[in-house]
Amino acid sequence: MIKGSTNIVALIGHPVEHSFSPPMHNRAFEKLNMDYAYVAFDVEPANLKSAIEGAKALNIKGFNVTIPHKISVMEFLDEIDEVASLIGAVNTIDFKNMKGYNTDGIGAVKAIEEVTSIKGKNVVIAGAGGASRAISFYIAKYGADTMTILNRNPLKAQNLASDVSNSGLIGEVKSDSISEINAYLADADILIDTTPVGMHPNVDDEPIATSQNMHEDLVVFDAVYNPNETVLLKEAIKAGAKPVYGIKMLLYQGAESFKIWTGRDAPVDEMEMALRKTLNLE
Ligand code: ATR
Repeated sequence: MIKGSTNIVALIGHPVEHSFSPPMHNRAFEKLNMDYAYVAFDVEPANLKSAIEGAKALNIKGFNVTIPHKISVMEFLDEIDEVASLIGAVNTIDFKNMKGYNTDGIGAVKAIEEVTSIKGKNVVIAGAGGASRAISFYIAKYGADTMTILNRNPLKAQNLASDVSNSGLIGEVKSDSISEINAYLADADILIDTTPVGMHPNVDDEPIATSQNMHEDLVVFDAVYNPNETVLLKEAIKAGAKPVYGIKMLLYQGAESFKIWTGRDAPVDEMEMALRKTLNLE
């Protein structure tokens, strides 16, 4: 129940009405009997500064930040987490110290680490946009041995690869055109797809790789969560590879944000149930 003492955390973005985060976090607060509520605010880009100042004045405890504010919000913060700063985008703000974090990449890494450790692995990442950027720096931070970034536009892959190399978190990062993917899969331990290929309603897209080029020891993560089992994950299963579903990235980015705001471990099973219900995956 919302009371006079209830702590508020919120999502800001534009638009926000279809977000899965409010039910996921509110279920977590309920489960742990915490006096918190999570709401969503639609903030026009021109109002971002006043939204942050207003939130401070209202003693709001934390924000999740989504499109289009993930980059522009950084100028209103006092501190940015080291990896978030390398990524150049934040999705979580802790109002205790006005510090920004990026839990999107952590979410992907934790999802993959449910199945296999990233340390010492050969990782292939498809796509070189915002999601790939967030995930790449965390894959480097978690100790991957080698990383190759593949993209339709190879120049973008090359730029991201050189940014990740320059971070010092990993050695040289390779890049190539996504059309060359099959040449990289034989030696890969983990394939991460950050492209929208196979996303609803284009569920019958041609996958970025097929079962013939995958192997049993490969772990395949698809950041697309609608549908739950994408065309790429179907191919992975056919090849005997281990699938990691996009919903897990949503879950673990939320769990990390929860921990940042409250200092407590998130009840991930409960959050996953809420997420599945919101996404109609029950
Ligand atoms: P996000 O924030 O989800 O990463 P984005 O920044 O728009 O979204 O990036 C989308 C990525 O998917 C890009 O790497 C894009 O490739 P280009 O840079 O060549 O545009 C990639 N992508 C989009 N549609 C694709 C498709 N049909 N096949 C292969 N890659 C695709």
